[in-house]
Amino acid sequence: MSKFLKAAVLGHPIDHSLSPRLHRHWLKFYKMEGSYEAVETLPEKLAETLNRLQDDGYAGVNLTVPLKEKALALMDDIDPIAARIGAVNTVTFREGKKQGWNTDAYGFVQNLESLGYRIQNSRKAVVLGAGGAARAIIAGLLDVGVKRIVLSNRSREKAEELVKSLAPASDPQALKPVSWTDRHISLADADLVINTTSLGMQGQPELDIYLDRLPVTGLVVDIVYNPLQTPLLYAARQRGNLTVDGLGMLIFQGQKAFEHFFGKLPPVTEALRQEMRV
Ligand code: ATR
Repeated sequence: MSKFLKAAVLGHPIDHSLSPRLHRHWLKFYKMEGSYEAVETLPEKLAETLNRLQDDGYAGVNLTVPLKEKALALMDDIDPIAARIGAVNTVTFREGKKQGWNTDAYGFVQNLESLGYRIQNSRKAVVLGAGGAARAIIAGLLDVGVKRIVLSNRSREKAEELVKSLAPASDPQALKPVSWTDRHISLADADLVINTTSLGMQGQPELDIYLDRLPVTGLVVDIVYNPLQTPLLYAARQRGNLTVDGLGMLIFQGQKAFEHFFGKLPPVTEALRQEMRV
């Protein structure tokens, strides 16, 4: 008899999460008997909820805002990448143990590679923002061998903290902070620009940045996926830059999470991308 498979995404708020749609698509694709739900979870209920789902036989859960950092302390084992990033977005329950993973760096890198970009050839990447998403993306960029990353964040202190914890000891120059005021000029000779701030998201102001200095060959990536067409991406396309929206990273972080839960790395198809857009 095959076992009924269960997974979920926890967060607060969780109503608009796209993860159930994503994982249900793959469960259906494999004709697996299983479920994937969204469970509203306040930070103070995280430990209790993880224990309950573990006891209920769940394969694992995804975590989103505001639980990713808090989860670290609740794991029995932490994958080295999750430890480096300082956040857990995927938990598996195996042999009575909670194991914490982070698939966001993978999601970012894999998405660009699937679109044909060779990020490792990037000569200068500019990352805007220094939150959890920035930490994952910077770890991913460093791991594929990007030699020059410039980080600009509104709060300088947070950018410096991030640089301190992620800059490689073997090449401390690889990751440098620049002031938020200098974000515009930092775009000169960049071939990759990534918005990891929440600016441009529905209900948020747009990211205020002049693209004049950015080479027209530079790729502009926005990890915001609500809406997919952000003012930043629109402005970048208007001046001839290629752009990548936030949907792919979301799909690919889920792809790796699905593999952690159920042991299969599911395909990312055009049909899935379309289904996720509606
Ligand atoms: P996530 O985990 O999704 O990365 P986060 O940790 O809340 O989210 O980080 C949000 C990022 O957006 C931060 O870099 C934040 O800048 P600060 O560190 O200065 O707070 C950035 N951000 C949010 N609102 C902003 C605004 N109005 N102007 C500039 N940056 C902003």
